[in-house]
Amino acid sequence: MNHLQSWPEPVVRVQALSESGLTKIPDRYIKPITDRPSPKNLDDTHINIPVIDLQNLLSNNQTLQYETLSLISSACKEWGFFQVVNHGVSHELMKQARETWREFFDQPLDLKQKYANSPSTYEGYGSRLGVDKGAKLDWSDYFFLHYMPASLRNQSKWPAVPQSCRKLIAAYGEETVKLCEKLMKVLSINLGLGQDHLQNAFGGTKDIGACLRVNFYPRCPQPDLTLGLSPHSDPGGMTLLLPDENVSGLQVRKGNEWVTVKPVPNAFIVNVGDQIQVLSNAIYKSVEHRVIVNSVKDRVSLALFYNPKSDLLIQPIKELVTKDRPALYQPMTYDEYRLYIRTKGPCGKAQVESLKHR
Ligand code: OGA
Ligand code: NI
Repeated sequence: MNHLQSWPEPVVRVQALSESGLTKIPDRYIKPITDRPSPKNLDDTHINIPVIDLQNLLSNNQTLQYETLSLISSACKEWGFFQVVNHGVSHELMKQARETWREFFDQPLDLKQKYANSPSTYEGYGSRLGVDKGAKLDWSDYFFLHYMPASLRNQSKWPAVPQSCRKLIAAYGEETVKLCEKLMKVLSINLGLGQDHLQNAFGGTKDIGACLRVNFYPRCPQPDLTLGLSPHSDPGGMTLLLPDENVSGLQVRKGNEWVTVKPVPNAFIVNVGDQIQVLSNAIYKSVEHRVIVNSVKDRVSLALFYNPKSDLLIQPIKELVTKDRPALYQPMTYDEYRLYIRTKGPCGKAQVESLKHR
């Protein structure tokens, strides 16, 4: 995989571009007209993705429990996205995690450059996804790191400054992974499987992958011409997104429209990734989403990707394959699967479509 050893052109930090005070963005960031956020979609509509109170799953009231399971089931089928509140993760920790990453990005460029990443592992400080020379780029920088499996957890690759950063990443990783395990049970039950079935299909709890991608979307003088993150579905299993508390930006595809997610305080945004689409034989869909930027505020988000053990073949779960609904996808390991987005960058739903049996 030689082409994944280095970036095809010099890396430009979008944050540095933004801070240079330019009034026109470089051509590299200007999307074709059909891909730009339309003015209508820059406005908020009144619809929002479902918000689910996870505490209701522990209620003594069985009806409430069933209703909650059913709300999650519909959300997975109709939106591929939902928000969860009363999820058990400390609000203080969420705040501190967001804050420490803001401080990281607030540091001078040369301090961040020590963590500059390459496309071979993507670990570290990055500014693009994909290695196509001449590709249109997104208006964002990011930091990518592994929390699980333990063999890939390498704290020396995590920011040393702010001083509390590594400790917070570890604490945040632990709590969010626990929440993902809970959600895996819920999804498994909702699919009509035993509560551990989906987790086992991921390879258990010890060898799963958990990666953190912290996105930084700088202010943009021409937000109508570009995107912070192009349309994509998440390649992994499930994503837990901690959005910025002050500014929205995430848009989810609903039919032919883009719906702007309005984050609820202290909630996580949960979405189904391609691996759960495959395992569920498309009962659940990984839904396309994108990020818009704005000229007034920058934005930070923390995406925790919960992925299957990377060398396991992922294919539709036997119990979900029937005569009427044959297996839709060919088996592939996640190790192999993720090479696509790492090479080509965000491509809507093209990758999971290409897995379909012909
Ligand atoms: C992602 C992603 C959305 C956001 O990192 O895959 O979709 O709001 N992020 O930053
Ligand atoms: Ni995403």
